[in-house]
Amino acid sequence: MTEKEKKEVTEVSEAQIAVHWQEEGYYYPSPKFIAQANMTDETIYDRFSLDNFPNCFKEYADLLDWYKYWDEILDTSDAPCYKWFRGGLINASYNCVDRHLEKNGNKTAIHFVPELEEEKTDHVTYQELWVRVNEFAALLQDYCGLKAGDRVTLHMPMSAELPITMLALARLGVIHSQVFGGFSGKSAADRIVDSGSEYLITMDAYYRGGKLLDHKIKADEAFETAAEQGQNVKKVLIWQRYGGKYSAETPLVEGRDVIVNDLLKNYYGKRVDPVPMPAEAPLFLMYTSGTTGKPKGCQHGTGGYLAYAAGTSKYVQDIHPEDVYWCMADIGWITGHSYIVYGPLALCASTVIYEGIPNYPDAGRCWRIAQDLNVNIFHTAPTAIRALRKIGPDEPAKYNYDFKHMTTVGEPIEPEVWKWYYKVVGKGKAAIVDTWWQTETGGFLCSTIPAVKPMKPGSAGPGMPGIHPVVYDDEGHEVPPGQGIAGNICIQNPWPGMFQTIWGDRDRFVSQYFERYCKNPDSKDWRDWPYLTGDAAVVAEDGYVRILGRIDDVINVSGHRLGTKELESAALVVPEVAEAAVVPVKHDIKGVEPDMFIALKPGFEASEALAKKINDALITEIGPIAKARKVWIVPDMPKTRSGKIMRRILAAISNGTDVGDTMTLANPEVVEAIQKMASEG
Ligand code: WTA
Repeated sequence: MTEKEKKEVTEVSEAQIAVHWQEEGYYYPSPKFIAQANMTDETIYDRFSLDNFPNCFKEYADLLDWYKYWDEILDTSDAPCYKWFRGGLINASYNCVDRHLEKNGNKTAIHFVPELEEEKTDHVTYQELWVRVNEFAALLQDYCGLKAGDRVTLHMPMSAELPITMLALARLGVIHSQVFGGFSGKSAADRIVDSGSEYLITMDAYYRGGKLLDHKIKADEAFETAAEQGQNVKKVLIWQRYGGKYSAETPLVEGRDVIVNDLLKNYYGKRVDPVPMPAEAPLFLMYTSGTTGKPKGCQHGTGGYLAYAAGTSKYVQDIHPEDVYWCMADIGWITGHSYIVYGPLALCASTVIYEGIPNYPDAGRCWRIAQDLNVNIFHTAPTAIRALRKIGPDEPAKYNYDFKHMTTVGEPIEPEVWKWYYKVVGKGKAAIVDTWWQTETGGFLCSTIPAVKPMKPGSAGPGMPGIHPVVYDDEGHEVPPGQGIAGNICIQNPWPGMFQTIWGDRDRFVSQYFERYCKNPDSKDWRDWPYLTGDAAVVAEDGYVRILGRIDDVINVSGHRLGTKELESAALVVPEVAEAAVVPVKHDIKGVEPDMFIALKPGFEASEALAKKINDALITEIGPIAKARKVWIVPDMPKTRSGKIMRRILAAISNGTDVGDTMTLANPEVVEAIQKMASEG
């Protein structure tokens, strides 16, 4: 046995339980699609080659309006914290709203579709968007006293008010941090504390699955939890849900809670000039899960981020101003920021925001929305595609919509599922892009340019123009394409959409994303700082990348990123719990789900009630997406002689695969006991 083989393998990653599928053949976009596409020029890959780096990205920056053009395209003096378009002055709100007014003021910017079909869709024109953004910006400036560089936490559901809020803050140069509406008040509190937000903006209620959910109640919890941690939120600003009456049951707290819709009346007709911001000023924070229990605030800059969101929306999403574009993601995730709000609005498209779940009230809802609004670009995740395929495989054919383009994002998509998406949802006419990227990366890393490269089911495609992936093995040797060997996928170069740092934690930024393959820690040359994505991938001969899943302690449930350590810390809040271990389990619709293994403190007994209490803790601490498939209360955790929990064995039991050699364990007998529990369900 070699030293390497002797190494104790205690962890299990998503990539290890991934199914590997075969390379598929190519599918080609239709001549009709190509004839209208924004990018048909194959030389784009040469223009964006490493030889032309970083100047190639001028093409993206020139899609935007600058108050002052930049002096230097890429400043690497503080590598790997880069500054893009240094010296430039720009405002994101101006670029997404004001500049469209002259030609397209009457065009719809946002179609807000309430979940209840009896409620009317709200069509917000660019002119109206401008008015509403200005008025709210005036309120934020005057009533809250907010100014450039302040941070504000948003905990809002899908609504037209969410992008209005983001754009109003961006107008003032205030950094927004939107927390996914489905997260708990406690999760919001952690983000309020970390970002130092003095204001929380929320909404009273929203519909999900036909039920009106009280969302305001989470603001109370967020406020109290943040206060316990020493962060005082001065005011909670509450938007009333579309329709305009206070819909939550939770009462207002006097002096603290303010109904935005009422207060706004004082600001009707008010205008606020957009603040010219340095290109590298932060635009927003987006918290995401990592390898520790504490979510990290990915800090995205203004000029670089917006240029990359606009450029990729134009070339990959193929957005033209006349398109009606619907991305089904939640704005609380990076996909929603880049590809519901900033990218489409910077390009003056009409963007659809849907409040609810895809199958409410029935499996035809999505296709009805597409038909009614003439959606021609559709963007969703494999989880939704798998679910819609399961519940209504023949539904799309019943509706008269016409997609020219479709996207899949967030998880690997099985070729089977891809083909249903292509044939049934896209009716064999729409071009598909499988876009692989991350919260950290601001925009796409790998995808096809739809009119330039053919599609290949199950593969994301090659690196985007200007993005140069490389796969390394654990020793840092490059794995060449076409070998069928998986490795750790990294990006060789920086790009404008890349996050600037982790809010308040540069060391963590460097150590987590760059240290592993850094060639020289003192270097100011970007070539020495490959970016570690945290995914395992196989690259085919043609350069197309197949993503296998995460290599770290992150699992991707229905396309939502959750840290196993975050889940474990949430379980440890329950007083009876001594140890917790989370492993990913394959699931037909969700990709993977968490299974939670628990060892109790002495003197406590396992019971169904206790298992439920633990699962409830996951929901309260994080949110319903964190719910475990199963909470297994086990007599003891399988451990190595040095005391490490063998998650690999727990994962094998949960997934029904071979547990392998257990003889090196300190307590091999518990494996059998746990297997017995699992076989009895
Ligand atoms: C995974 C979402 C396969 C990947 C935009 C990544 C994907 C994590 C794909 C980031 C894809 C994203 N194919 N896997 N097309 N897109 N992923 O930060 O593991 O929520 O690291 O960003 O999702 O998730 P995040």
